[in-house]
Amino acid sequence: MSRQWKRTHTCGELRKEHVAHEVTLNGWVHRRRDHGGVVFIDVRDRYGITQVVIDPQASADVQEAVAQVRNEFVLSLSGTVQMRPDGTRNPNLPTGDIEVHAADLQILSATQTPPFDLNNPALEVDEAIRLRYRYLDLRREEMQRKMELRHRLIKAVRDFMDGEGFWEIETPILLKSTPEGARDYLVPSRVHPGRFYALPQSPQQLKQLLMVSGMDRYFQIARCFRDEDPRADRQPEFTQLDVEMAFVERDDVIDMIERLYLELADTLSDKTVQTRPIPRIPFAEAMEKYGCDTPDLRFGLELVDVSNLARETDFRVFKDVVAKGGIVKGVRAPGCAHYSRKQVDEFTTLARSLGGKGLVSIALDDDGLRSPVLQHLGEEAAARIAGALSAETGDLVLIVADQPDVTNAVLSRLRLEIGDRLGLRDPNALAFCWLVDFPLFEWDDDESRWSFVHNPFCGPFPEDEHLVTSDPGSARSLQYDLVCNGWEVGGGSVRAHKRELLEQIWLTMGFTKEQIDEQIGHMLEAFSYGVPPHGGIAMGLDRTIAIFADVESIRETIAFPKNQQAVDIMTQAPSPVSEPQLEEVHLALRHEKE
Ligand code: AMO
Ligand code: AMP
Repeated sequence: MSRQWKRTHTCGELRKEHVAHEVTLNGWVHRRRDHGGVVFIDVRDRYGITQVVIDPQASADVQEAVAQVRNEFVLSLSGTVQMRPDGTRNPNLPTGDIEVHAADLQILSATQTPPFDLNNPALEVDEAIRLRYRYLDLRREEMQRKMELRHRLIKAVRDFMDGEGFWEIETPILLKSTPEGARDYLVPSRVHPGRFYALPQSPQQLKQLLMVSGMDRYFQIARCFRDEDPRADRQPEFTQLDVEMAFVERDDVIDMIERLYLELADTLSDKTVQTRPIPRIPFAEAMEKYGCDTPDLRFGLELVDVSNLARETDFRVFKDVVAKGGIVKGVRAPGCAHYSRKQVDEFTTLARSLGGKGLVSIALDDDGLRSPVLQHLGEEAAARIAGALSAETGDLVLIVADQPDVTNAVLSRLRLEIGDRLGLRDPNALAFCWLVDFPLFEWDDDESRWSFVHNPFCGPFPEDEHLVTSDPGSARSLQYDLVCNGWEVGGGSVRAHKRELLEQIWLTMGFTKEQIDEQIGHMLEAFSYGVPPHGGIAMGLDRTIAIFADVESIRETIAFPKNQQAVDIMTQAPSPVSEPQLEEVHLALRHEKE
């Protein structure tokens, strides 16, 4: 019969009260120290760390086993709980008052040398190695805390939604391909040669159909799939809190999500919400002041349009840009007048990397203005431009001239760069805002047609409905986005629920009646059987957790993420499949295998 090995307590549990108890602990060797005769083993599990002492008097079996033990071995340790001697207590460890004097030690599993040191949190390990051995990476305390936060947040969301009368309803993963903004992942059908399912980019259509079904309030912790290039805030598969509500207007959805997010922030994050209620910013104002629709409001430094002043100067670059319909805008870098040529060049390089053609800097020194283009601008005009940006002595201003989209893209990034360099992006603050009053359509230059801004089911302001045909570019939409610290954490809209209106929106986007019928015929049909006015939203939970946990990438919040090339380097997915597997789904590869 094998020896008793199962734990009586976890490694985070033992306290003074347990002194003299006989206990068994199971866990990993966090650290092993040999003090000539006495061996100390810190044994670790998800719950904590406990110090175990193997005295020289321990049995020969135990001495023999302990000699083999290395870091990350899995052990069972049995013995008596004792107070640690005076002066050796560890106030930083919840179990730091006690230690276990081992009478038995069993090696449950040995280990080869781990590919990186799991116990050194300061150690910079290449992310590729962490992902290759994710099961080891997840052993680390820091990762365990993130997984715990993820669990707690999702549980809090479920509890809140249940309390608000929402039902969680699952929707299929094998679905029909429909345009929703990104590229679909396709799944070939075995039963129907040449046909494909698509993995849902979101459950958008199904949740709207559930409103037609009278479900009234739906939510789902929904996995979504989008074949886009991964980035720090983007994964090929990610998790949404997906919501839809019947008989609501824009403010009903906003209010509900606002209460949820403030509660999550208050209960699950150490950070402080900067402004309540959450401010609402019209899209046009955000573009003007911050150059983007995801403003980081933890600091000011708003962009200022100086096109009118720039056009009056003798500087050819500025005049030409304004004459061609472009804009000239600037941002202030407080106290940065002393920046070296090299530091300013770094801003220029950043501007160029975003498609900008250059950058004009004006430094406000004690003894006057300094700029590489001062003689073109003229001292007086340069002073007026600096004045328009509220610049004071000691400040640096950065000015970009280009078509509006480029100018805004460059300056919004420069604004963040200045915020980073000056430490203005307070890691302890949560600056939420709602972006509202988006346009319904944007012009797609590549395809020469109108395209949706949010999604193809979003409705216009009721008073703008007629503009969908007469002046699409002016129609405002009932879209809303929740932004926090410069990240888009969620977005949704009140939908175009009237059949004719939805059809008209698709006609405006250049679809023919036949195409509309093929793509969303089932939606139009459903809307002809009595559809409540409805709206909803989807919140990016990976992003929410990343912001709360203060990490740069959502990969840190997902147990088994893909890397930047959309590869799971632990299992090597995507991977080739066998010829018979391909045949079964009626596929032949066009390209030779690499
Ligand atoms: P949307 O496409 O704006 O809306 O997505 C909602 C939120 O999901 C998160 N998100 C992502 N997170 C990680 N990786 C990605 N690739 C990714 N893409 C999006 C973002 C985003 O704000 N069906 C609509 C919602 C609706 O109208 O109800 C939708 O999916 O945080
Ligand atoms: P150039 O005439 O191209 O040599 O540019 C003169 C200066 O103007 C340089 O400092 C450039 O970085 C800057 N510059 C050029 N194009 C732009 C632009 N579109 N916006 C702002 N500055 C620019």
